[in-house]
Amino acid sequence: MGPKHDKLQLVADSKWDDAQALAVITEHSHLDGALLPILHALQETFGYVDARCVPVIAGILNVSKADVHGVISFYHDFRHAPAGRHVLKLCRAESCQAMGCESLVDHLASTHCLTMGETDATGALTVETVYCLGNCALSPAALLDNELIGRLDATKLDAIVMDATGMRS
Ligand code: FES
Repeated sequence: MGPKHDKLQLVADSKWDDAQALAVITEHSHLDGALLPILHALQETFGYVDARCVPVIAGILNVSKADVHGVISFYHDFRHAPAGRHVLKLCRAESCQAMGCESLVDHLASTHCLTMGETDATGALTVETVYCLGNCALSPAALLDNELIGRLDATKLDAIVMDATGMRS
């Protein structure tokens, strides 16, 4: 990326490795309530939680695969596929809703063909929902990689998408 993308910070891009995943699972399996720590550790290591680990975790923790799958599905934080090189988390909690965040969600879909929870076709940008970034006074708020953004509007959003995807002319 060129100089105009200096503010964007690349997201770690790890490939899933079954042996390494097993080591991570084993390392955390002794903890009380080990399921969530295991899932967080896997996501931290690989950037997402691959469905292949579900039966492994279920076997080690002696719980059902449905239990493991249910927890992964319940928490928005867990990704089911690798993220794009950049991640934009758009807040959709109460204050940001009151300030129009849903119109930004619609704008992403209609203008950039980006659906929440998904990554653009080039693998450059993932857009995700979060519920309160603690930046309510500057709603609508978002987090681009590690950069907090306030008073987000369609113009700022366009610039973010263009920078992240390298589409800016
Ligand atoms: S509700 Fe969006 S930052 Fe708090």
